[in-house]
Amino acid sequence: MKLGIFDSGLGGISIAKAIDEKFPRMDKLYLGDTLNLPYGSRSQEAIYQACVRCMRAMFEQDCRLVIMACNTASARTLRRLQQEFLPTYYPDRRILGVVVPTIEEAIERGYRKLAVIGTDYTISTGIYTHELTKINKDVEIVETPLLVPLIEGGGEKYLDLVLDDYLAFTDGAAFDALLLGCTHYIHLKERIRALYDFDVIAQDEIIPEKLALYLKRHPDIAGDITVKGDFDFYVTDLTERYAHNAAMLFGRDINVQLMEDVHECT
Ligand code: DGL
Repeated sequence: MKLGIFDSGLGGISIAKAIDEKFPRMDKLYLGDTLNLPYGSRSQEAIYQACVRCMRAMFEQDCRLVIMACNTASARTLRRLQQEFLPTYYPDRRILGVVVPTIEEAIERGYRKLAVIGTDYTISTGIYTHELTKINKDVEIVETPLLVPLIEGGGEKYLDLVLDDYLAFTDGAAFDALLLGCTHYIHLKERIRALYDFDVIAQDEIIPEKLALYLKRHPDIAGDITVKGDFDFYVTDLTERYAHNAAMLFGRDINVQLMEDVHECT
């Protein structure tokens, strides 16, 4: 069986790459739902239905465990998938999100004041505040959405300027760490680090380690994942640009294929 990594698009490839570096032998499958992106501006029901189709396709392709790298999908859909979809259709499979591991990491590092940036949807759910309060009521968090529309709108060239204005609220010692709560931001992390003094928590740097701990606690799941070193890349809508960008993000030539099952039923 395989380890699945899912995102609404291609941003999750940064997390897939980091997982591949930690577990090179493990058989993996990446699925980016390029047909339905951006998730961040969709309704809760639309995101849920898109994720159901993608999870079904990944489980039918023999994924034992899926890492939901997409924060937007993790925000509300994950709980519903775990409580309704999995027990009914795939009781022996698992889906793990990225929000709780990110918060746990921030708490373990001893930060007291956090800021998180994510999609409109992720921020509107208040998921980071909600999960943080469950674990530690003394840590403060500010959630804010602004950057995704800029990146999606091709405005990356204005980024330094916008970041300056946008992150002005972080001035001085206002908070200890910025959580990058969206797969879009991972490739901006070094730029943000170069510009600011606060720490930056990037999910590609923490998810592989959290996954290793999870697999250690669940040897039955770890034992089901085969180790031929295969990595299959799929998207739900395939264009030359997607294929090119996927290879760029992964850092080497990869064969990106169309996931037909999902494509047909959307
Ligand atoms: N991948 C999504 C996330 O991590 C953001 C992109 C989108 O809006 O589809 O939140």
